[in-house]
Amino acid sequence: LAAVQISPSILSADFANLQAELDAIASADWAHVDVMDGHFVPNLTLGLPVVERLAQVSPAPIDAHLMIEDPDRWAPMYAEAGASSVTFHIEAAANPIALARNLRAAGARASMAIKPGTAFGPYADLLPELDMVLVMTVEPGFGGQAFMSDQMPKVREVREAVRRYGGEVWIQVDGGVSARTIEECADAGADVFVAGSAVYNAESASANIATLRALVAG
Ligand code: DX5
Ligand code: ZN
Repeated sequence: LAAVQISPSILSADFANLQAELDAIASADWAHVDVMDGHFVPNLTLGLPVVERLAQVSPAPIDAHLMIEDPDRWAPMYAEAGASSVTFHIEAAANPIALARNLRAAGARASMAIKPGTAFGPYADLLPELDMVLVMTVEPGFGGQAFMSDQMPKVREVREAVRRYGGEVWIQVDGGVSARTIEECADAGADVFVAGSAVYNAESASANIATLRALVAG
């Protein structure tokens, strides 16, 4: 496996102080930004103009997780706005191959997310178009939810499909990832770990990042 990567979710950060909150996770590999449109998921967060400014000031590259309808139309604009990785949900994509190609053409890593109730198998053929697969370990929409261990077989299935394909595709987990659950995810084959409340809701974000990293490094 490639080296493990930590991607703190700013969903649990102080939205009135995002520049400072991004600086606080400068030691992370990515800054995970959850875009929710109030339609694909019941929650509403932030959109394109905010992501564009975050990309300009963040020490860590932006890992945009788009929980939105019509990603075919909107996702490439997040790449153009400066997100280095753009994740769309397969459940919302009309033409995922064209979408992934548009993301790469715009200079971003192309990533596909799958909700807990969505099977990976039907989309395994997309791997050559993708730089990352995000296996959700909660229902998307809110931070602070309980980790779903029952998604670990899916992580193993994606890892096996990536091995068979032979290319380099990262596997991200998002939702309920903490010091208690991160090793389980790594054992199943994940190598990019999103953590919101586990990073921001305890004293020092940088110490929390180091703790998570130490649990899965090497
Ligand atoms: C949930 C978001 C996650 C969320 C994770 O829909 O995609 O990125 O911020 O938060 P925690 O780590 O608290 O489960
Ligand atoms: Zn997310």
